[in-house]
Amino acid sequence: MMTRPVAAIILAAGKGTRMKSDLHKVLHPIAGRPMLLHLIDSVDQLSPERVVVVTGAGREQVEAAVAPLGIATALQAEQLGTAHAVAQAREALAGFDGDVLILYGDVPLVEVATMRRMIDRLREEDRPAAVVLAFRPADPAAYGRVVADDSGRLDRIVEYKDANAEERAITLCNSGLMAVHSADLFGLLDRVGNDNAAGEYYLPDVIALAAADGRHSAVIETDAGEVAGVNSRGELAQVEGEWQRRARARAMAEGATLIAPETVWFSHDTRIGRDVVVEPHVVFGPGVQVADGVTIHAFSHLEGATVATGADIGPYARLRPGADVREGARVGNFVEMKKAVLGPGAKANHLTYLGDAEVGAGANIGAGTITCNYDGFLKYRTEIGEGAFIGSNSALVAPVKVGAGAIVGAGSVVTSDVEADALALVRAERRSKPGWAKRFREMMMAKKAAKKAGE
Ligand code: UD1
Ligand code: CA
Repeated sequence: MMTRPVAAIILAAGKGTRMKSDLHKVLHPIAGRPMLLHLIDSVDQLSPERVVVVTGAGREQVEAAVAPLGIATALQAEQLGTAHAVAQAREALAGFDGDVLILYGDVPLVEVATMRRMIDRLREEDRPAAVVLAFRPADPAAYGRVVADDSGRLDRIVEYKDANAEERAITLCNSGLMAVHSADLFGLLDRVGNDNAAGEYYLPDVIALAAADGRHSAVIETDAGEVAGVNSRGELAQVEGEWQRRARARAMAEGATLIAPETVWFSHDTRIGRDVVVEPHVVFGPGVQVADGVTIHAFSHLEGATVATGADIGPYARLRPGADVREGARVGNFVEMKKAVLGPGAKANHLTYLGDAEVGAGANIGAGTITCNYDGFLKYRTEIGEGAFIGSNSALVAPVKVGAGAIVGAGSVVTSDVEADALALVRAERRSKPGWAKRFREMMMAKKAAKKAGE
């Protein structure tokens, strides 16, 4: 099969009124990333010669989001229908000779393999005029119905509003996505009218127009989850759920154990290795990398963190951006890390805050240790050397260094550097009064009894 260049037109002119949002619909995040960028990422894998995003309502937001990617936009000033929207890309595709994929910005989960199937079908020897991506939803609702024969050749697509009872009984629905050769596309669009129930220019009408020229079109099917669209917050949550289901399946296929997969939430860029165990209710924010053999216990939250081989995290750990947990280190319950390195084999097992800190290999950070990194104006660093031992409930007031092998006594407030192998003990002298507590108790009990007798 000869290879032809590919272009993509992504429709994103719709208002998204039902989102009730100041943010454009296609910029609402799925797995922490605008849905439009998920789609563009998939399109990119086809190495398209051109990509055009058709904008309309809220165009400034969409333009700002795609400009850094060097992607062209075309303005659809008035939303007169999907055919009219695609026609706006004519100028941006001037001189392009190849296959055009038409996608919807609010249908973000379409896989590159499916896009390839559409293009491959368009290139088959029978030369269909268009390839339509269809699906069979549990509830066909108001989707356009695909009128096709058993061999996957189709005559037309009828919009629900325009369909009769017999056509409405068809279960094969139009996803809206289509592949058409550029040489056919714009000529067909020119002939689409708006004499229909909605008074709109329907893109699917190109099928019937091609048929009138004696050109057949083809339909291929995919599962409903892949072509799920977002029109409301409820559908946004469903698409997020679908994305998460796939990410969990991928993580498991690549050798991670998820004990309760449905409770683990990934980000668009989460990387986890082999033989990683993720316990229930773990959330990955953006920018997390987890190496092989790591265990992440229940209820941990990670974001912008790097976790090296064999480390052990949680339960109830919070790793914030810049957390860097090295080989075999241990971050226990209610420990928060931010811009902090926990060296190989080091431990911070309980109730600790490590911020703007560097902890050397094998150091032990006692329960309740706090690096006091902020004075209300500026942030400062704490350095803890290899093999140091920080006693429980210590406050390390940065900037401060604790040398290798040093010991900080429990309850210390350390405001200046501790040299290597030294003991730093910063506590008030203890005062002791033998028998005082007993005498106090007896006096108070007598007082209470006298008060009661006088009532
Ligand atoms: C469309 C299809 C229908 C299909 C359904 C799948 C038509 C006429 N109908 O229906 O067969 O089952 O999608 O969801 O195409 N858009 C623009 N400019 C416009 C109109 C739409 O950019 O003038 C964009 C929207 O932002 C959206 C997409 O095109 O991303 C689809 O528009 P929408 O109004 O949701 O299409 P439907 O009429 O629901
Ligand atoms: Ca829609």
